[in-house]
Amino acid sequence: MTSIKVAIAGASGNLGPAVLKELLAAGFDVTVLTRRDSDKAFDSRVHVAQVDYESLDSLKAALSGHDAVVNTLNVGAVPKSTHLRLIDAAVATGVKRFIPSEYGCDTTNPLVSKLPVFGDKVSVKEYLEDVIQKSSLSYSLLFTGPFLDWGIEKGFLLNLAGPVTLYDGGDRRFSATTLGGVGKGVVGIINNLEATKNSPVYINDARVTQNELLELSGKSLETKIVQTTDVEQEAFAELAKPAPNPAIFAPKFILRAIFGEGFGSLFDSEKVYNDLFGLKTLSKEKLRGLIRD
Ligand SMILES: NC(=O)c1ccc[n+]([C@@H]2O[C@H](COP(=O)([O-])OP(=O)(O)OC[C@H]3O[C@@H](n4cnc5c(N)ncnc54)[C@H](OP(=O)(O)O)[C@@H]3O)[C@@H](O)[C@H]2O)c1
Repeated sequence: MTSIKVAIAGASGNLGPAVLKELLAAGFDVTVLTRRDSDKAFDSRVHVAQVDYESLDSLKAALSGHDAVVNTLNVGAVPKSTHLRLIDAAVATGVKRFIPSEYGCDTTNPLVSKLPVFGDKVSVKEYLEDVIQKSSLSYSLLFTGPFLDWGIEKGFLLNLAGPVTLYDGGDRRFSATTLGGVGKGVVGIINNLEATKNSPVYINDARVTQNELLELSGKSLETKIVQTTDVEQEAFAELAKPAPNPAIFAPKFILRAIFGEGFGSLFDSEKVYNDLFGLKTLSKEKLRGLIRD
C-alpha cells in the first residue's frame, strides 16, 4: 500500500512541530515546506522543500503529488496572500484536502468572526468555499480552542506566576486542546476524509474553567477579575492608533473570544469529533499533571 503524502507548511513554529510529530507517528509520507532563508532542522524522515512563498510555481513544485496540505503558518505575520497562494498551489496540483491555519476559536461563530484578529482566517475560509465549487480540492477547518499546555506555559490561559487574571470571573467553561492533541486532530481528518469533507471539525482535550485550572494547580495565588468587554475595548483602542501593535491587540481579542459570553468557546459536545478520531478527554489527574509540569 502506498502511504498518504502530506505536506505541512510552518512545521517549525509553536504548533507545527507537534503536528509534524503526529503526522510521522501516523505513518504518512511527509514533506515540510520551509522558507528558503530559514535554517530550521527537521526529523530525518521528512522531505524538506525550501520554498518561496511569494511564488506560485515554487509552491506548486513542492506540493506536486501530495494528497493533503496542512497549513500551520502564522496568521497575521504571514500575509493573507500567502495563505491564498498555498490554496491555489494545492488546487493546481490536484491536492485532495487542505487544512487551513485555524486551530483555535470557532471562526464560524458570528461574534468571533467579527473580531478583527480573525479577519484573515475568515477570508481564507470564504476563499476555500469558493474554490471547492470549481476544483477537486476539499477542506476541513480544525477548531481546537486555546492550546492548553502552551497557553498555561505562556501564562496566557492562567498566569501561575501570579497574580492570576480571571476573565469575567473565571467560571467560563471552554474547550481546549494540547499541542499534541491538535496534531492528533489533523491526523484524524486525514484518516477520515469523507466524514470531515468541507466541514468544521471540533476537538477538545478538556472542557474546563480558569477557576478549575487554578484549583488543580494546587497553588494559592492572588487573583484579579477583569471583564472581557474591557479587554475588547482596549484591543480596539490599540487598533485605532496610527501604528497598532499586534502583540497588544491580538491576544486581547483572542481572550475576549475564549472567555466572553456567546463566542462558542465551549464546543457543542454533540459536534466534537473526539470519538471518531479516538481522542479521550484528559482526566482530572492528567490535567493536574499537565499544569504542574
Ligand atoms: N489556539 C491557540 O492557543 C493558538 C496559539 C498559537 C497559535 N495558534 C494558531 O496556530 C497557527 C500557527 O501559529 P504558530 O504560532 O505556530 O505560528 P508561528 O510559530 O509564528 O509560525 C509558524 C511558521 O511559519 C513559517 N513562516 C513562513 N513565513 C513566515 C513569516 N513571514 N513570518 C514568520 N513565520 C513564517 C515559519 O516556518 P519556517 O521558518 O520553517 O519557514 C514559522 O516557524 C495559527 O493559525 C495560529 O493562529 C493557536
